[in-house]
Amino acid sequence: MSVNRRDLLRAAAATGALGAAWPLSAQLTTAQAHAAARNLGATWDPAPFTLGVASGDPGPDGILLWTRLAPEPLANDQPLPTTVDVDWVLATDPELSNKIAQGQTEADASTGHSVHVPVAGLEPNTRYYYRFSAQGKESRLGRTKTAPTGAIPSVRFASANCQAWHDGFYAAHRGIAAEDLDFVVHLGDYMYEHGQVGGTPIRDHEGPEVHTLTDYRRRHALYKGDPSLRAAHAAHPWFLTWDDHEVVNDYSGTSKPLRKRRAAAYQAWWEHMPVRGDTPATPQIHQRRMWGDLLELTVLDLRQYRSAQNLPDGTILGAQQKSWLKSTVDTAPDAWRCWVNSIMLSQLAKQGGGYYFTDQWDGFLAERKEVLTHVHDAGLRDLVVITGDWHSAFVDDIRPDFDNAHSPVIGTEFTAHSVASGAYSPDWNQTNGPIMGKANPHLKYFEGNRYGYDVYEVTPQRWSTHMRVIGDRRDPNSPVSTLTTFHVDRGVAGSYEDPATIGSPAQYRRA
Ligand SMILES: [Fe+2]
Repeated sequence: MSVNRRDLLRAAAATGALGAAWPLSAQLTTAQAHAAARNLGATWDPAPFTLGVASGDPGPDGILLWTRLAPEPLANDQPLPTTVDVDWVLATDPELSNKIAQGQTEADASTGHSVHVPVAGLEPNTRYYYRFSAQGKESRLGRTKTAPTGAIPSVRFASANCQAWHDGFYAAHRGIAAEDLDFVVHLGDYMYEHGQVGGTPIRDHEGPEVHTLTDYRRRHALYKGDPSLRAAHAAHPWFLTWDDHEVVNDYSGTSKPLRKRRAAAYQAWWEHMPVRGDTPATPQIHQRRMWGDLLELTVLDLRQYRSAQNLPDGTILGAQQKSWLKSTVDTAPDAWRCWVNSIMLSQLAKQGGGYYFTDQWDGFLAERKEVLTHVHDAGLRDLVVITGDWHSAFVDDIRPDFDNAHSPVIGTEFTAHSVASGAYSPDWNQTNGPIMGKANPHLKYFEGNRYGYDVYEVTPQRWSTHMRVIGDRRDPNSPVSTLTTFHVDRGVAGSYEDPATIGSPAQYRRA
């Protein structure tokens, strides 16, 4: 085990030395910030491509390539000219000899010297390799893949969510990088605007939270200092949605103070992600993508358009996205449908009434019922929802009316473990697993003592969710194993656990 950043930060907090240990503290010079980050296990690629490379939004004929020039990743300003020419090349071999496309683009200070290159005219279902160069330096090699068309025998992809940098290393991303995958989906909480260690708030500047574009850029750059995260980006194309912590905990709406902060956070997010579009003020996240004829991926944005929670006429989707989602249901192809959903869709009621968290769909009861009733009325089948946010694993039956035990099962929700963000204590999980199970007849499984990611293996006949877990988030090289596997058979609503792993540890399992 190398340096353990979680315990180092906790020890620093306990002795009042967090200001010197936390790399983004205002009191540190840039050189001190980098030293503090390295002391916590951060490394970066050689300048100027310190943050690595990434690809995103793979289609059958194109892909988005990303990098950002940041010679001094934690500096307030980068030692770069206002614009820098960046060359890129894409080929079918890792030596980049069979070049398919190449070009030059400009990295501009106004967008953090980030680079987003949409490459078109590619072949479906094909592996590609790419590299950037600028200022006489080359980036690392990236690997990506376009979407297939037509009939395909299978698709394999992974999801990741909730990666609080101060809470642990990203052994889960090391696992994702090594998996044989078509793509990766990020379910949100890619970075956290706040942090606490040992009960002490982590302070970047005057307060414990980040507010300005510079603040958010430095946080993103620190997160990219985990080499496993850069490896996972370089290994596979990603689809992304987001949750609250990319901006601020549990946010909704556009009040004046929030508007400014949100704009800074959105821009920094866009600058650091392999996403399309050139309007960082309001990135469009929600979209529908096909993976051959086998899988329809519907990416939802549950943050940008929502109202406040617990209103009778509240919305989590916003009017436009809701009608768009309903229309995707009406026009769904004969395929598996996967909703990429940042926060829990299924009801999670407390014993005796009320809900655990109304920031999730439980705070938008009328809209949830409306959407799920629409799914049922339209006869949509083979719906699987993949979810993050909770830092623990759940498997739920989805029903249009969760309060009615006779309401039909119309799909399955898999809520995944977090990459690193702290879950409840083993004691809490042991006590509350059975209580949640009793209060929620649609809840089939709960496990909260572990960290990791999910791998989905989908064929025309069956959907399988493999819960991959790491041994210890304090260890960047922690081994990855499969805790359990759940299956959904095509045409049959509802999931079942693989007999081979049904005896694996969990704090709740419906008999
Ligand atoms: Fe989270």
